Parts: sequence; structure tokens; C-alpha cells
Amino acid sequence: MPVVSQATHVARRALGPYLRDLRPLREATGADQLRAWFATQTAGGFGFNGDVLRASVVRGLFEVCGCDVFLETGTYRAATSLLAARLLRCPVYTSELNRRFWLLAWLRCAPFMRVHPRYADSREFLVTMTRELLRSAVPFVYLDAHWNEDLPLQRELDILFSAWQRFVVLIDDFQVPGRPGFGFDTYAGRPLSVDTIRFPVEKVAAPSGVYFPAYEAADDTGGRRGYVVLAAGLRDRVAAAQQFPLNLLREHVLTSADAPSPR
Ligand SMILES: C[S@@+](CC[C@H](N)C(=O)[O-])C[C@H]1O[C@@H](n2cnc3c(N)ncnc32)[C@H](O)[C@@H]1O
Repeated sequence: MPVVSQATHVARRALGPYLRDLRPLREATGADQLRAWFATQTAGGFGFNGDVLRASVVRGLFEVCGCDVFLETGTYRAATSLLAARLLRCPVYTSELNRRFWLLAWLRCAPFMRVHPRYADSREFLVTMTRELLRSAVPFVYLDAHWNEDLPLQRELDILFSAWQRFVVLIDDFQVPGRPGFGFDTYAGRPLSVDTIRFPVEKVAAPSGVYFPAYEAADDTGGRRGYVVLAAGLRDRVAAAQQFPLNLLREHVLTSADAPSPR
């Protein structure tokens, strides 16, 4: 069996219970309108874009890098927030700008003590988290608040680098070099990519690593969206753990050619 198929098989077996457990309601049979509406709003979609390989990568990085909290920007239906709480067994803080989505997420997350949906712009949320969490925390940050015309991504990264010396960031909807099968977002005609987003790695004391999926989009079990991972100040930890699931990533060496080009 090819390595990636094997990895997918292992990941499916490991994560199956979590995914099944969080299978959304398919039919609204509730007594009141809110429940019926809520059910239709939450139908469809698993966390981490439905990609069990991505979920495995997140869990592997979380453990290897010694992360202790999961932060997410862009809650939407809380699919990733809930899966992260189950998978990582840690506190989850997530922010949503749209009041209706936030309310839905809040209702959905209410039974789960570890999950904290905040109604806030992602940048305000991250600034708040830099005050609420210890400087010694090692957050895993999932940046997914890019839906509107206003792109908060660069500011989000700058806030993280100004607050913590060690953290892991995964940016969704990012262009994967050499893997055209993965989808990505485009802002003002420019893809989210190492050519448009700056990683200020010089702000942290220890070396950082930038990683992309090493697997093909065809092996993605979900929406086939691209992503990038940045292990800020934690490159040594990732380098020392090249077995599954971290062998699903390949390192991308940042060069001056990757510096965002002027518009
Ligand atoms: C792609 S969805 C997030 C999906 C979710 N992370 C998941 O994996 O299920 C993007 C969400 O980000 C929200 N959003 C957009 N801009 C935002 C901002 N500046 N701050 C917080 N949330 C934002 C949108 O309302 C939308 O619900």
C-alpha cells in the first residue's frame, strides 16, 4: 500500500470516533423553531475541512511542540473548534465576527466546558488572548477568518509574533507550491501565499520552520484546501519528529524571494 494511503488508513482509524461523534444533525426534529433552524445551519462539514490527514498533522504538531491551548479565528459553525477540543483535549478559544454565526456556535459549544466562542474581530480577539494567556503559553493558532474583503491575516501574524516566542500557526486556504490541486483564497487578484504574506520569524529567538502538505490534494479526504504551517521558535521539535503524522509535511525554506512583493 502506498505510504499516503497507509497514512490515510491509520488516520481514519485513529480519528473515526471523533468524526462520527461530531456528525452534525441531519434532520431538524426539535420542538421549537430555533432548534430546527440551528440543525439546518449546522448540517454538513467536519472540522479541519474534513481532511483527516490535516487533523492528524494538527494533533502531531500539538503534541510534538508541547502546545497547551488552541486558538481559532473564524468560528463559523464551530466544526473545527469542537473537533479540536475532542482531539487535543485542551482549552479552545475561537472568535467570530458575524453575530448569527457566533450565536449558533455558542449554542453548539455550550455543553463543552473547554470551548469558548468569542464574538469579536479576529485581531481584537488575538490581542485579548495575548493578555489572558501566559507569555509562557505555547498556543496552536488556526487562522481561518478570511471571508470578507478585509483580510486580517498579516495583522494576526504580527500580533502573535509580538506576544509569544513559541507557537504553531496553521493558515487555511493558502497556496501550496507545486500542488495545484489544493484550492486557495485570492485577495485583490493575489493568492494567499509566501509571496503575499510575511512571516516575521526574526522576531522570535529560536529558529522557525515553514511547512506545506507533502501529500497530494487527491489524498485529502475533505475540501482539498491548501494550508501552510509555521512552527515559530519550534523548528528543532518538528525536525526531530519525522515519523507519521509529521512526515505528511515538507519544509519550505523561506528565501528573500518569498518576501511579499509590493503591489
Ligand atoms: C471559512 S469560515 C471558518 C470555518 C471554521 N474555521 C471551520 O473550520 O469550521 C470563516 C469565518 O470567519 C468569519 N470572519 C471573517 N472575518 C472575520 C474577522 N475579521 N474576525 C472574526 N471572524 C471573521 C466569517 O464570518 C466566517 O464565519
